[in-house]
Amino acid sequence: MGLEDRRDAEPEVYQPAEDSHLLADAACDGLADADENDRVLEVGTGSGYVAGRIDAETPARVVAADLNPHAVRQAREEGLETVRADLVSPFADAAFDAVVFNPPYLPTDPDNEWDDWMERALSGGEDGRAVIDPFLERVPRVLAPDGVVYLLVSSLTGVDDVVEEAGEHGFSAVAVADESFPFETLTVLELLR
Ligand SMILES: C[S@@+](CC[C@H](N)C(=O)[O-])C[C@H]1O[C@@H](n2cnc3c(N)ncnc32)[C@H](O)[C@@H]1O
Repeated sequence: MGLEDRRDAEPEVYQPAEDSHLLADAACDGLADADENDRVLEVGTGSGYVAGRIDAETPARVVAADLNPHAVRQAREEGLETVRADLVSPFADAAFDAVVFNPPYLPTDPDNEWDDWMERALSGGEDGRAVIDPFLERVPRVLAPDGVVYLLVSSLTGVDDVVEEAGEHGFSAVAVADESFPFETLTVLELLR
């Protein structure tokens, strides 16, 4: 099924866009030396595009997860091992060598009602970090000691604020990819402890 057909068939699932491509490229580059013993989690997989790229381009074992049941269905249809999950909640301690996330990051009105799945895919609350901050708090638990996080952020979200918050949770951050658009710059942060 092509992308346009998918948009029609799954209107409640975020379909691959520039941010998805940037994150997939950076994660695949960063995981170039992965082997079949490495385990990778994609949080918020949406269509499964990023997890599918990692699955196809690296030997690592990939698990996809999303809160949105429609996304879980689409990712499963793509052949991915997929779990319905709020961030990393169901996963065991130190279960993953890498965690990848293209989060909802658009700053939105405080009266935003979060009443449909596409809004949950896009909206990052008033400061854009309503999902990123809890992710940074919880992801260390499921990461192996030498594990890595690839996190997509936008200039609209405040990259420096995200780097500072990541530091609060023991991570140092390096920007490994970026791409500029008329209204924002997208950056992929590599987070290591
Ligand atoms: C910007 S979309 C990215 C989708 C896909 N990874 C991509 O790059 O094309 C954000 C995704 O995060 C999911 N999401 C939002 N809040 C979540 C949460 N608390 N736990 C898990 N997934 C969440 C949304 O359902 C959505 O699929």
